[in-house]
Amino acid sequence: MRTGTRAVSGDTASAGSRRARTRAFPTDFVWGAATAAYQVEGAAFDGGRTASIWDTFSRVPGKVVNSDNGDIAADHYHRFRDDVALMAGLGLGAYRFSLSWSRVRPGGQGTPNPAGLDFYSRLVDELLAKGVQPVVTLYHWDLPQELEDAGGWGNRATSERFAEYAAIAADRLGDRVELWTTLNEPWCSAFLGYASGVHAPGRHEPEVALRAAHHLNLAHGLGTQALRASLPAGARVALTVNPAEVRPLSQEPADLDAARRVDALQNRIFLDPVLRGSYPEDLIQDTAHLTDWSFVQDGDLESIHVPVDLLGVNYYNPVVVGAPVAGDAPEPGVDGHGASDFSPWVGSESVRFVRMPGEPTAMGWPIDASGLHDLLLRIHRDYGPIPLAITENGAAFHDYVGPDGEVRDPQRVEYLRSHLVAVHEAVEAGVDVRGYFCWSLLDNFEWSYGYSKRFGVVHVDFATQRRTVKASGNWYADVIEANAVQG
Ligand code: FCB
Repeated sequence: MRTGTRAVSGDTASAGSRRARTRAFPTDFVWGAATAAYQVEGAAFDGGRTASIWDTFSRVPGKVVNSDNGDIAADHYHRFRDDVALMAGLGLGAYRFSLSWSRVRPGGQGTPNPAGLDFYSRLVDELLAKGVQPVVTLYHWDLPQELEDAGGWGNRATSERFAEYAAIAADRLGDRVELWTTLNEPWCSAFLGYASGVHAPGRHEPEVALRAAHHLNLAHGLGTQALRASLPAGARVALTVNPAEVRPLSQEPADLDAARRVDALQNRIFLDPVLRGSYPEDLIQDTAHLTDWSFVQDGDLESIHVPVDLLGVNYYNPVVVGAPVAGDAPEPGVDGHGASDFSPWVGSESVRFVRMPGEPTAMGWPIDASGLHDLLLRIHRDYGPIPLAITENGAAFHDYVGPDGEVRDPQRVEYLRSHLVAVHEAVEAGVDVRGYFCWSLLDNFEWSYGYSKRFGVVHVDFATQRRTVKASGNWYADVIEANAVQG
C-alpha cells in the first residue's frame, strides 16, 4: 500500500446520497484479498512444520464440523504459484496472508526452520514478480502447540516468544515485505479460544481469557518493536482487529449499558491500550469479580502503546444488544461467534444479543453495510485520524459449480458491492481508508465450521483442488480495474 497525498476523485454528489453513481476510490487505494495459513496452506506436517493448536483442536471430536482439519486445506503450500497467477488475473494489488509460526519456528522457540522460511520467501518473490504486494500477518490464531502446553496466551512468556518470531520473519522477508501485521483479531484468540472455547485451544477460563487479551496486546507491542528493529526504514507495522459495531436495542439505560459492556469487551480492550495507552476503567470494573488485572505489569502499557502505521479492520456485520431479561438466559450463538455453553462475554454473560431481521448469510450473520460505515466513522472519531484498511470483509453462501462450469453468487456480489459503497461513503466523510481486502481469495477451512462454509471469490473443489473464479471474483476484478464501484 502506498502512502502520500490522497486525492478523492469522482462524482460530486453529496456524501451519503443514495442516488446510484460511479464511486471512484482514491487513486492509490489498494485492492486485495486475504487468506490465513491454517485455512489454506495444508502441508500441515511438511517441511519441518510442527503442530499448532488448530491441528490439535481439530482432532478433538465434536469441535469441527465433519471432523475436518487443515491437513490439506486448499493445498496453497504446493499450489501457491497457480494461486498467485489467479491473483494477478484478478488484478489484485495486494495479497494478505499469514505465516504459520510453527512452520517458521517449529515448537515456537529455538532454531528457525529454513524450509519454512524458504516457502514464504518463494511466495513473496512470486507475488512481487506478478506485481502483487505481499502483506504479511504474523499471527492468525495458529499458536505452536508447545507454547499452548506451556500456558498459551495465558502465559506472559508467549508474548516474548512472539516478538522473537517477529524478528525472525522480518530478518528473512523484511527486504521485500513492506507492510506487516502483528496479530489478526486478538479478540477471537482470547475470548473464543479461552472463554467460549469454540476455537482452539478450546478452554473455558474467563480469567485466563482476560489475561490472554493482555498478553496479546503485549505481544503486539513487543512484536512491533521487534519488527521496527529488524525492518528497513519505510516498512510499516499494523494491527488487525475485529471491532464490533454495537447497537443498543433501545435508548433505555439498561440497553445502553449492555452496548457499553460489549463495546468495552470487544473494542476498547484492544484499541485503548494500543492507541491510547490505557485499559478502560469500566472494563476493569465489569470484570473485577474475575480478576484484579494484576497481570498488567509496570511498563506493559508503554510497551503496548507504540505507534502503529495502519489499523486493519475486519468487518462482517453489526450486532444489536440489549439488557438481560430476568429468568431468561441468552441463547448461545446469536452473537455470531458460535454456540457454546460458555459465553465469550466474560463478566457480561447475561447481555442479550438480538437477532436482526432479513436474510442472513450462510453463517447466519446479518447483512448490514451501514455497520461498516458507522464503525469506520466511530474509530476515526474516537481514536483520531489513524490510517485504516479493511483487512477482511466478505460473506459465505452456498456456492456450487453449475453444469456449465460457472459459479453464480449474486448474493456475494451484492454483499461486496454494498460494503464497498459503505467504505466509499466513509472515505468521502474524511476517514483515511487506504485499502480493502475481501475475505477470502479462496474457499478454505473455516475454523470450527470446517469446509462447510465458503467465503472465497474463487471456488475450491476440495476433492480435486480445482479452482473456479466465481461470478463475484470476476465482478471484483472489474471493480479493481475501474477503481470504482456502482452504488
Ligand atoms: C474472521 C477470520 C477469518 C475468517 C473470517 C470469516 O474472523 O479472521 O479467518 O474465518 O472471519
